[in-house]
Amino acid sequence: MIDGRMQEALNKHANAEFYSSYLYLSMSAYFQSINLTGFAHWMRIQAREELAHALKFYDHIIERGGRASLQLIEAPAAQWGSPLAAFEDAYRHEQKVTGLINQLADEAVQTRDHATGNFLQWFVSEQVEEEASADAIVQKLKLVGDAPGGLLMIDHQLAQRGSG
Ligand SMILES: [Fe+2]
Ligand SMILES: [Fe+2]
Repeated sequence: MIDGRMQEALNKHANAEFYSSYLYLSMSAYFQSINLTGFAHWMRIQAREELAHALKFYDHIIERGGRASLQLIEAPAAQWGSPLAAFEDAYRHEQKVTGLINQLADEAVQTRDHATGNFLQWFVSEQVEEEASADAIVQKLKLVGDAPGGLLMIDHQLAQRGSG
């Protein structure tokens, strides 16, 4: 049976993952609106991944005999000044989520919830990838600057992202 404090923290984090999904879907809509369909595709897949993360937390709570509870999802921003601004936001957001995961891992140690600690290790590794992939795109966008050719090249590349 899961500790009450841990259950609350995990439900709160599931909400943060749902928000991540919402944020990236909003970025996908933004990219569609400026005709960068490859960027939009990449963000849509990212949104689906975040939804899967939220469901991992939801399932873990239930599997441990807890009660999953769904909370209000905050509205994300709808507009960004440039593709770079959007990806810088995404990168900052992932850094924030990494901090939240680390906090949860600390709480799992404090409550001696080793099952949850073990569950969270997947997310610890996942966040390394999440930060790296967002930052890689930030760096590319900085490299091409305002050159439309470069932007379209990145767009073409991001269109190749598989759903796995
Ligand atoms: Fe996530
Ligand atoms: Fe993420």
